[in-house]
Amino acid sequence: MIGVCYYPEHWPENMWQKDAQEMRELGIKFVRLAEFSWSKLEPKENEFNFDWLDRAIMILAQHDIKIILCTPTATPPKWLIDKYPSILPVNINTGVTRGFGSRRHYDFSSPDYFDASMKITQIMAQRYANNSAVVGWQTDNELACHDTTHSGSENALAAFQAWCKNQYGDIDTLNDKWGTIFWSMEYQDFTQIELPFLAVTETHPSHQLAYRRFSSDQVIRYHNAMINEIRQHCSHQFVTHNFIPMVDTQCDNFALADQLDFASYDNYPLGRTDLFFANSETNAFAKYMRTGHPDFSSYSFDQIRGISHDHFWVMEQQPGPVNWGSHNPRPHPGMVYLWSWEAVAHGASTVCYFRWRQAAFAQEQMHAGIKRVDNSKSIAWHEAKQFNQDLALTGFDLSAKVSADVAIVMDSHNQWVTEIERQGDSYQHQQVEFSYYSAFRKLGLNVDFIAQDSDLSPYKLVIAPCLPIIHNSFIERCKLAQVHLVVGPRTGSKTEELCLSPNLGPGALQQLIDIKVISVETLRKDCVTEFFYNNTAYQSERWNEELIVGDNVEIAASLPNGQAIVVQNEKVTYVASLTNDAFLLALFTSIANKHSLSTVSLPQDIRLSWRGEYGVLLNYGGTHETVELPFAHECILGSLQLAPYSVSVIKKT
Ligand code: GAL
Repeated sequence: MIGVCYYPEHWPENMWQKDAQEMRELGIKFVRLAEFSWSKLEPKENEFNFDWLDRAIMILAQHDIKIILCTPTATPPKWLIDKYPSILPVNINTGVTRGFGSRRHYDFSSPDYFDASMKITQIMAQRYANNSAVVGWQTDNELACHDTTHSGSENALAAFQAWCKNQYGDIDTLNDKWGTIFWSMEYQDFTQIELPFLAVTETHPSHQLAYRRFSSDQVIRYHNAMINEIRQHCSHQFVTHNFIPMVDTQCDNFALADQLDFASYDNYPLGRTDLFFANSETNAFAKYMRTGHPDFSSYSFDQIRGISHDHFWVMEQQPGPVNWGSHNPRPHPGMVYLWSWEAVAHGASTVCYFRWRQAAFAQEQMHAGIKRVDNSKSIAWHEAKQFNQDLALTGFDLSAKVSADVAIVMDSHNQWVTEIERQGDSYQHQQVEFSYYSAFRKLGLNVDFIAQDSDLSPYKLVIAPCLPIIHNSFIERCKLAQVHLVVGPRTGSKTEELCLSPNLGPGALQQLIDIKVISVETLRKDCVTEFFYNNTAYQSERWNEELIVGDNVEIAASLPNGQAIVVQNEKVTYVASLTNDAFLLALFTSIANKHSLSTVSLPQDIRLSWRGEYGVLLNYGGTHETVELPFAHECILGSLQLAPYSVSVIKKT
């Protein structure tokens, strides 16, 4: 199904009827409304104006369109900020208050904002609980976007001190667990603890990790209260939230999504690829400038499916150039269609395009819409329409589940560990996780993302690219499950409080494989060392661990100096270095084959994803490609000769 994000308040009311008619013509089933509309809904404190929204809902409902309403809390209005200036968050790097004039200008620790948010949520929820056109709610907008999880305000400080007290009970326990004796940082009382910023040099890593955990808890507390507020009134409507990429939320994403009916994702493949490559120091961007990287959208889709309880929605789909990348190219013709197929192949039940009509004014006037400002139809209109028709034509089953034999463990706390303790600037958590993911996708394998405490029984391979803090319960479940575990460097090297594991890395994992990490070095990205695996040369780079290897452990690859860097037994493969992508592909091919996973040899820019009985083939590249599949199938849409930037749909027979 398809939907669209619509801002009727940006357009004269005499356009609304025609908009609704055209949405219907396009096949739109859902419209998201009211997202940033607080100043229009409540122009002055306690003076409400819902008439315009009622009318917009009514017009859309007359065209058989269902509504998702948003709480407008991503944009506190000026009167509210003027009345309670301490709502504004404080930049942790400068100590300067972040001002009014854009969005997300609120502090999750502000009691005044908490109250104001719950009040407007309650008023909206009460008003629309029994409106039959309103089928669901979106909480806020992109929580944490624009680096807003962390604040250095007085409110945050007081709440952090209380959080520490609650977490550690007494101050001696905190001193002991963190190790504050180092550099004379001992505290006598929780009220002495400051936020871990703006000190002369690096602040204590345990202190930083505690602050990250606290900040995540603050977002979750706020968000859960909002969900509760909606649910108290709206028992027949779903509640979702539109997430940004997991790495950017700075929250425990599993916990953040826990109380939702399902999670949603905002998919901007070009802008996100631009940001990703900007950090990754590779020069592969140009090739994917108009498509996004072939694994980047699916990486987020698979992660969002992991935190969702069931299916997920794409709440915002890029329709053309955006305005917020460092550069903002046009997608190749066909890509909006392709991204939409990719979303449903990975478990989306609905794809909503952002936005109906390009805004004529303000910050996003250079951001494309489905319609242009003169009301003409952009290319995205035609691609969305085609997608919707083809979806129906193929009988693609939107209720089917995506299943996978491979699961990657993702864990925000561990991401924070690598951000706090950099050790080497060329270790990038997201890049490491992505390279592991991408290698499996190149083999045509579906991948789930799971938490450390997830059920492992559905999987044959469990992959942990980056898990410095490893839970004992995870190790226990690995012992019981019939899974092979593949882990990257740093695994098990830290305690829960970000101190060194007393038995050295890989800590508790030593129960499953007899190895010890006795030293760690990090290297500049251009300082690579060649090594051989199955007689082929690959590269070790960036992060490198020296191991002591027990007798029953096989050494699968070593550096020229004899140092083992890939070691294995029946249960575990430990990769003690970062490597080039070609090595991961070779290693995972061999492990997948050993564990009877049916891999497919795909051309470089072709991807295959399975949902239920349907396989979706995507050509992210600019050349014609032919795919050979090692199993019987029929083509439902297209063929195995894929034109550039095209989609085919197959079914196993
Ligand atoms: C999203 C956001 C939208 C809009 C869009 C532009 O991140 O939710 O409100 O700003 O980006 O691409």
